[in-house]
Parts: sequence; structure tokens; C-alpha cells
Amino acid sequence: MNPRIALVIGTTRTGRKGADIAAWAHRIANSRDDAEFTVVDLAEYDLPLYDDPMPPMRRAVMPPAVQRWADAISPHDGYLFVTAEYNHGIPAALKNGIDQLFDEWSGKAAGFVSYGVDGGIRAVEQLRQVLAALRVATVSATTPIRLFTDLDEHGKPGAQQEAQLQETLAQLVSWSRALADGK
Ligand SMILES: Cc1cc2nc3c(=O)[nH]c(=O)nc-3n(C[C@H](O)[C@H](O)[C@H](O)COP(=O)(O)O)c2cc1C
Repeated sequence: MNPRIALVIGTTRTGRKGADIAAWAHRIANSRDDAEFTVVDLAEYDLPLYDDPMPPMRRAVMPPAVQRWADAISPHDGYLFVTAEYNHGIPAALKNGIDQLFDEWSGKAAGFVSYGVDGGIRAVEQLRQVLAALRVATVSATTPIRLFTDLDEHGKPGAQQEAQLQETLAQLVSWSRALADGK
């Protein structure tokens, strides 16, 4: 069976670029026949800030919004995080969305499409550290998009970013498949 991969849109603000960049990545991902790709939009879940007395691996009951988020994340074998860089780091909404779950992420693979003035690479490197705590294996290839130089007049990334995305997807599909098969 093909691995199931979620493209997770990691920003939630009004007018965000994240949705357009995820749509671009989804269109390219859908040209592949070795995985199934679904967009999971963090903005649709209206997650509370984490406030449970217990950590996620010992939480008795999830709030309804978190349960919906868990149900969206859980069925996937791998994740392509589409993330901006906010103040040289991970957007707070995405960090909160990651922190809300544990088992749903654990033992899976992840890759990144990032964007910002410098391509959002500082957010990606922080995400690697965070995801290691959740036992997520992050692939080395990434797709950084420099907002001032890498977008065409329609706001779309170019051929170089498409090639980087294909390499990111190739590694992500391979690792997602290997980890799913090993369970
Ligand atoms: C709170 C905030 C902090 C930001 N900090 C950075 C930054 O540190 N580095 C950077 O390259 N861009 C930064 N930006 C610019 C974002 O890269 C740019 O606005 C991008 O479109 C944000 O993603 P979004 O549109 O999906 O929210 C910041 C934007 C916001 C809203």
C-alpha cells in the first residue's frame, strides 16, 4: 500500500502565504504515484493552547478540537510540514499543534517546505529538534523558499524549488514507507 502523507499547513493568520505554498506543493506531490497526499490545515482546528494537567502521552481525555486534530494527524505515515519562520523560529501555532499530540506523530517520517526572507531554514532546524523528541525521523532534503527572490509574478515558486520539493518528497516517501512497513 502507498504511504499516506499529510501536508500540514503550519500558519494560521489571516492572509497567510502558507495556504498558497501548500497548494503549490500539493499539486506537485499529486504528480507522484508512490504516495497519497492530503492537506491538513492547522487553521481549521482552532486548537486551544496546551493546558492539560498531564502531558499528551498521559492525558485522559482530549478536548474536542484536539481530538479532531488527532484524528486528522493519526492516519498518516509521514508529514510534509509547510512552515514559515516567525522571529527566527517555529510559528507558535505550529509548535502548539505539535505539542498537543504524541503517539500520533511517533515512529513516522517528516520533511519540510519552508519560506521566509532567508527561506525559513531556522524554523526547519528548530523543528528537527522538536520532532526528535516525538520520535519523528526528519529527512535531510528540504525545500526553502526565499520570499523576495524565489517567487514569480504570480507568487509561485520556480523550477529550482520544484526540483528541491521533488527530492524532499522522494526521501519522505521512502522513509514513510520504510517506517510504516517496519511496524
Ligand atoms: C510574527 C512574525 C514574525 C516573522 N519573523 C520572520 C523571521 O524571523 N524571518 C523571516 O524570514 N520572516 C519573518 N516573518 C515574515 C514571514 O516570513 C512572512 O510574513 C510569511 O509570509 C509568514 O508566513 P504566513 O504568511 O504563512 O503567516 C515574520 C512574520 C511574522 C508574522
